[in-house]
Amino acid sequence: MSARYAVLGNPLSHTKSPFIHTEFARQFGDDLSYEAIEAPLTGFAETLRAFARDGGLGVNVTVPFKIEAFELADEARDAARICGASNCLKFEAGRIIAENFDGIGLLRDVTTNLGHEVAGKHVLFAGAGGATRGAVAPFLAAGVESITIANRTPSKAETIRDLLGDRGTIHAIGFDDARGGYDIVLNATTTSLTGGKPPLPASVFDDATLAYDLVYGKGLTPFLSDAQTTGVEIADGVGMLVEQAAEAYDWWRGKRPDTAPVIAAMTIPLT
Ligand code: ATR
Repeated sequence: MSARYAVLGNPLSHTKSPFIHTEFARQFGDDLSYEAIEAPLTGFAETLRAFARDGGLGVNVTVPFKIEAFELADEARDAARICGASNCLKFEAGRIIAENFDGIGLLRDVTTNLGHEVAGKHVLFAGAGGATRGAVAPFLAAGVESITIANRTPSKAETIRDLLGDRGTIHAIGFDDARGGYDIVLNATTTSLTGGKPPLPASVFDDATLAYDLVYGKGLTPFLSDAQTTGVEIADGVGMLVEQAAEAYDWWRGKRPDTAPVIAAMTIPLT
């Protein structure tokens, strides 16, 4: 029987996870099935347990179930605990273990794929939601000099600073105060999903070598368009998406896929 994995979410019509994991399995010649299971909004736990009972080995979890996934796990790894949310579960000896690979996926894309050093650098995150919460610890562990979190609701940035400030230097500010001095500027708000952008000052890119929008498949978002006019390198979240999947594959199966061909196959030009 194939090793069974799945992604659980609702809705799931646009999920790329089955494609990505099928490509990974092909690289190793693994006999693996990866399904997209749209769980009822009030039936996540039931759907998950049924999948595990039927021989499933692990799942990815997406909107809106990431917090519920964390809460019903028997054990959570550091990244999931920091986020209070999980995007990846493993079933082991009847127990559910929660991880969260979004942050490490972003870090790997910025450093390994895009070739930007983060050690000793100043990094700005626009947004203080789950994406930023998951990324701060891996970036600090990689040796960034400082992380600044700019958010519409400053108290949410302050909460992340208070939670993780003992791991490195974190500043929490409003958008108006993000004037410059950042090597890497990341848009981790959800504004690009609806054609908007975070209201950052134009000078925010003055010292930057990379502007990164965490969304995937939205083309040249207003945030990336603003960045591009300053001449800074731009990237969207395709690499982050594939890298977090590779981390999951490695965690589940003990081997790390080659992400480059999958990223190449999924890249949509930023125009
Ligand atoms: P994710 O898990 O993808 O990070 P989230 O937790 O819902 O998503 O967080 C969304 C982020 O986008 C938040 O930082 C949110 O700002 P608030 O904390 O003030 O709500 C930000 N965001 C969403 N819409 C925004 C907008 N129109 N302008 C600025 N920031 C916005």
